[in-house]
Amino acid sequence: MPTNPLAQPRIRIAPSLLASDFSQLRDELQRIETGGADVVHLDIMDGHYVSNISFGIPVIEKIRPVTKLFFDTHLMIDQPHRYAEAFVKAGSNGITFHTEVVTEPFELIEYLRKLGATVGVSLNPKTPAIDIEQYLSHVDLVNVMTVEPGFGGQKFLSDMLDKVTELAKRLRPEQRLEVDGGINEETVQRAVTAGADMLVAGTAVFRAPRPADAIATLRRQAEAVWKHKTA
Ligand code: DX5
Ligand code: ZN
Repeated sequence: MPTNPLAQPRIRIAPSLLASDFSQLRDELQRIETGGADVVHLDIMDGHYVSNISFGIPVIEKIRPVTKLFFDTHLMIDQPHRYAEAFVKAGSNGITFHTEVVTEPFELIEYLRKLGATVGVSLNPKTPAIDIEQYLSHVDLVNVMTVEPGFGGQKFLSDMLDKVTELAKRLRPEQRLEVDGGINEETVQRAVTAGADMLVAGTAVFRAPRPADAIATLRRQAEAVWKHKTA
């Protein structure tokens, strides 16, 4: 069994490539890698599950040689089972699927493990934590959407903090709790206080004058709360 690179509990900053300048992907990736990002978050949208289309497998293949960063792939698509293998072959290290579109979660989890990917499950704002109760202990990561999926740059939904708190209580130390959407200097500490330890940030990182500074600021703020909680 390969070791799970997400297993160690610590704060992880996950810039979302969705907010980057797509005409300069190589530079953008190098900027966040040297700037201290832990993973890169890849938002895949199919125009069906969500009303937007982002990028897909050929782009992941092209950017794979450019960076050593873990590819945290968030599939906002209707049939994750159908496309998972192609994403892993293209270079995705972790695959996160949406619980709302999966009828046989155990089957998909086993399949993703066979592919060698870490396994994540994502919940839309309207999806309660109870919906993943049965298989919560079988995933490596839970992604709580703190905006409606589909677009970057939206406002953080504070109502989601209760869900984060509820899930945080149920996860083991080697399982990650990711928050996704609207994470910035104003919201990051509330998310970590509630129990999140993996912080997706698109706009806050890539639209900052200096992404490295934005990553450092988010990390400093997140760790200040996290160290206090885990002390
Ligand atoms: C929304 C995506 C998010 C989003 C985050 O559908 O899942 O990852 O890109 O972007 P910001 O940080 O701009 O809210
Ligand atoms: Zn995402």
